[in-house]
Amino acid sequence: PQKIYILGIESSCDDTSAAILCNGKVLSNVVASQKIHELYGGVVPELASRAHQQNIVPVIDQAIKQAGIDKNDLNAIAFTRGPGLMGSLLVGTSFAKSLALALDIPLIDVNHMQAHILAHFIDEDEFEKPEFPFLAMTISGGHTQIVKVNDHFDMEIIGETIDDAVGEAFDKSAKILGFPYPGGPLIDKYAQLGDPKAYPFPKPKVGDLNFSFSGLKTSVLYFIQKKIKENPNFIEENRNDICASLQYTIINILIDKLKKASKQTGIKRIAIGGGVSANSGIRKALKEGEQKYGWQTFVPKFEYTTDNAAMIGIVGYLKFLKKDFTDMSVVAKARVKF
Ligand code: KG4
Ligand code: ZN
Repeated sequence: PQKIYILGIESSCDDTSAAILCNGKVLSNVVASQKIHELYGGVVPELASRAHQQNIVPVIDQAIKQAGIDKNDLNAIAFTRGPGLMGSLLVGTSFAKSLALALDIPLIDVNHMQAHILAHFIDEDEFEKPEFPFLAMTISGGHTQIVKVNDHFDMEIIGETIDDAVGEAFDKSAKILGFPYPGGPLIDKYAQLGDPKAYPFPKPKVGDLNFSFSGLKTSVLYFIQKKIKENPNFIEENRNDICASLQYTIINILIDKLKKASKQTGIKRIAIGGGVSANSGIRKALKEGEQKYGWQTFVPKFEYTTDNAAMIGIVGYLKFLKKDFTDMSVVAKARVKF
């Protein structure tokens, strides 16, 4: 059987990543996360593109070396075309085009959000792939969507956020609590030590399968301001309970919409992807859904949930099989639909 080697390149936000896949199996997946943004409490686009520029060559070099192949073995190059930060996307797009031109191999453009979903199709021995159709909830720092996945490339967005993404709800609340960026993982860590019912935060009223998270951030801000007036050490003394309550509210919002989506579509296969799917609470709640609602759930391996190039590589491989290539006139796009 023929071996198809794909190089995946991801540079949509603040992670520069390169991966080599052979017939859908990951041989290497190198991620260089940019520490610089911690100083600013959020991703600074100009600094992100400069860091990509510095990282991209060594990261790709390392991915090729770790995979134990030669660059001349590559059959195609897949890259993130969008959505994302324009300056960041330009670095990966330009590099992918140049290398494909130099090696004279096909170029494949990849939609970042599709990649978060198709990460479930990376060939991993202990991870089961979902059958079609299934529901995919993509939860990250940039997006919050529920997608009906009919086939690898036949996807329908049936619900999405009307304002902030769920990752922003975590990160902005964390900022209010004085945590460094990105605060999501820290909220998760402290939440595991606290009482989720200690402080009730209001759930937004948004219709259909859509989400809204900007109100939650505001209510966290007012709540903290009020409590600090009464006790200046309120955050330090109640950190775990605040985090647990906040996380409990966010998870309830997500699970409620999933329940609604599952009812509406009659689909009980449910997958999650995106950085927030690393959250221990959402993973637990999803598993509980198997007992409670008869769901079959799919959570990708941890390293394929946050931004990574392996997920770009798997889309590259699936498109390669269909000979779905792009030409050299392709340009990065900050906003893209499916
Ligand atoms: O997918 P991702 O790496 O980048 C985007 O495409 O946005 O997602 C990053 C987001 C951040 O908001 C980060 O705080 C959040 O995922 N995140 C978490 C956890 N790990 C990462 N949020 C809650 N709990 C976690 N354990
Ligand atoms: Zn992402």
